[in-house]
Amino acid sequence: MDDHKGLHVHRVTKRFGSGDTEVVAVREVSLEVEPGEVVLIMGPSGSGKTTLLLMLGGLLKPTEGTITLNDVELSGLSESKLPDVRLHHFGFIFQDFNLLSALNVRDNVSLAAELTGVGRKTARQKAESLLTELGLGRRLRFPPEKLSGGEKQRVAIARALVNDPGLILADEPTANLDSSHGHDTMRLLREIAKGRGRSVVIVSHDARIKDIADRVLWLEDGQFKDVVEMATDPVCGMAVEREKVFSAQWAERTFFFCSRGCSWEFQLSPERFVGLEGHAAEAVWPAVEPQEHSVRTEGDNNAE
Ligand SMILES: Nc1ncnc2c1ncn2[C@@H]1O[C@H](COP(=O)(O)OP(=O)(O)OP(=O)(O)O)[C@@H](O)[C@H]1O
Ligand SMILES: [Mg+2]
Repeated sequence: MDDHKGLHVHRVTKRFGSGDTEVVAVREVSLEVEPGEVVLIMGPSGSGKTTLLLMLGGLLKPTEGTITLNDVELSGLSESKLPDVRLHHFGFIFQDFNLLSALNVRDNVSLAAELTGVGRKTARQKAESLLTELGLGRRLRFPPEKLSGGEKQRVAIARALVNDPGLILADEPTANLDSSHGHDTMRLLREIAKGRGRSVVIVSHDARIKDIADRVLWLEDGQFKDVVEMATDPVCGMAVEREKVFSAQWAERTFFFCSRGCSWEFQLSPERFVGLEGHAAEAVWPAVEPQEHSVRTEGDNNAE
């Protein structure tokens, strides 16, 4: 598709159950994602991230509100039209990548193209060139289980991109990966988004992804909150809310941790987690506007 116009989410709410067991997973969320923009949504477990992502991808119907992609309102579409729209307009990357073990790398990707009605030969050619572009040219005939985590992730990205969707959605794409692999492929995803003018929405706990995002949004209790109050745990890389978490002082700085365990680990040997220059600044983010309780010290001008 060539005419991607972005994503518009207007006051979307999702309720599960009713009466005493009602859960409002997402509350009146509004969001605009421009073509070429990468948005990262973070937030604690149970805050509604997956629910929101599934609604953005037309896999779950909002209870209220509207989601519009390229001027097409998803909630206005019939159930019979949705699968086709999903195939052409959305690319999904799931936490465990959901690759089919019976198919080789190429066919995992080409199948997604074939489902849109493209002939097998063309589908395979598309898959091969995309996989080669993603550095997997020598893995085309491999079964997925013979790939490393980072390679599997790239296959999942190729499958998400093969129909050239306007919106790419990823739920915890780096959760099963070590930091460098996950991070490199997320960077690649950013380049693709920028190069092709596609919109990308990533849901993750992994604060290391934040530097590939144009915007970071914090979802809590189903609503977006201000992210300026966030910090990154230097031990596990999780985003944490400064006011609610464990903190420790070191080298005239305050660091924040998701748990007592991370705090102890840090205090045993802080130098393992904080480089003497540069890295320490990454522990506080996004630090666009330092708050009164922010921990920037004299001479610390490395924060992003
Ligand atoms: N199908 C469902 N039926 C009932 N409640 C649900 C359903 N799906 C999600 N919920 C509830 O909605 C809330 C938000 O869930 P969601 O999966 O969106 O959270 P999340 O932010 O993705 O969490 P995590 O970081 O753990 O993946 C939770 O309280 C969850 O129990
Ligand atoms: Mg989730």
